[in-house]
Amino acid sequence: MKHCSDIDNAVKILQKGGLVVFPTETVYGLGADAKNPDAVSAIFQAKQRPAKHPFIVHIGTINEMHNWGTNIPEDTFALVRRYWPGLLTLVLKRASDVTEIISGGQDTVALRMPSHPVALELLRAFGSGIAAPSANMYGKLSPTSLDNLSPNIRNAADAILDGGHCEIGIESTIVDLSNAEPRILRPGVISLEEIKRALGKKVLSSSGFNMRFPGGCKVHYAPNAPLLLVPSDELVARIAEYRRMQAKVAVISSSIVAVPPCYTHRFIPPAPSEWARQLYSTLAELDRIQPERIIIELPPNGPDWEGVRDRLFRASNISSPSKNNRAI
Ligand code: TXA
Ligand code: MG
Repeated sequence: MKHCSDIDNAVKILQKGGLVVFPTETVYGLGADAKNPDAVSAIFQAKQRPAKHPFIVHIGTINEMHNWGTNIPEDTFALVRRYWPGLLTLVLKRASDVTEIISGGQDTVALRMPSHPVALELLRAFGSGIAAPSANMYGKLSPTSLDNLSPNIRNAADAILDGGHCEIGIESTIVDLSNAEPRILRPGVISLEEIKRALGKKVLSSSGFNMRFPGGCKVHYAPNAPLLLVPSDELVARIAEYRRMQAKVAVISSSIVAVPPCYTHRFIPPAPSEWARQLYSTLAELDRIQPERIIIELPPNGPDWEGVRDRLFRASNISSPSKNNRAI
């Protein structure tokens, strides 16, 4: 049985060029030996991810960074000391022997050392880098528990390691250190302000930057039903409006205002960590009951909410046609 494979078995599978689903504290990853181009290309097929999108290489020790990156700037060490193992991915100039498929043809490589004990045990037992995107089908919600792993990914994986529900729930913050000025490529739980403070210098934000990677596309992390993000003071009126149209509306809110009756209502306490942890699993749960529309109370602006708001904005900007994607 694939489910709940042990670490030794998962290591053997990676060595043979197979795919392993493993937990990290952010989201589950779909991993392959980062030094084996055939194994890495099987990830593209499993996820139906467009070619040329680069991968994060996960490593189990800080020292391994030198096997993948080159010309490593001083800033790297300040961030690594503070945030690894953890929620930070760093983009560095890549070493010359890093395979083309990992970097998507760029001269950089993304590195992350996760803190989840199962991930760390796997990485240290394997002893080399594991290339792993989030374990979702391209453009869909990242799984934060095995309950939300898509059947396609389940079938494509040769082993699946269970780590329970991911504690953090949204993907790592990505910081590009490969240019003169550090830049956030993908917001996450670690905010731009925090990176600025840790480096003691200006850090460029992701906004307006044309990124060539899936997490940087406008539409990503999307549930099937269209999302509507609504400020707190409009929430009650907007729900009532959809009710009048007899639309099958699901609501996710966090303020204590009485939500008018609707098809389904999920409450998430008004804390960034709770929203991050519960966002994808709540959206996945709502997707299963197929509402026509999901109304979400938009959390406030501010550094602590950067990552959650980023995922909400991306998920609400549906461009791919789907049967649920009609304006109501
Ligand atoms: O929390 C996470 O980061 C999770 C867990 C599994 O570690 N991983 C994850 O991987 O979110 P993925 O592939 O879904 O998103 C990583 C993003 C992708 O958009 C990828 O294109 C980008 O990082 N990326 C990878 N290498 C890059 C590079 N050299 N330059 C710029 N972006 C890069
Ligand atoms: Mg992803």
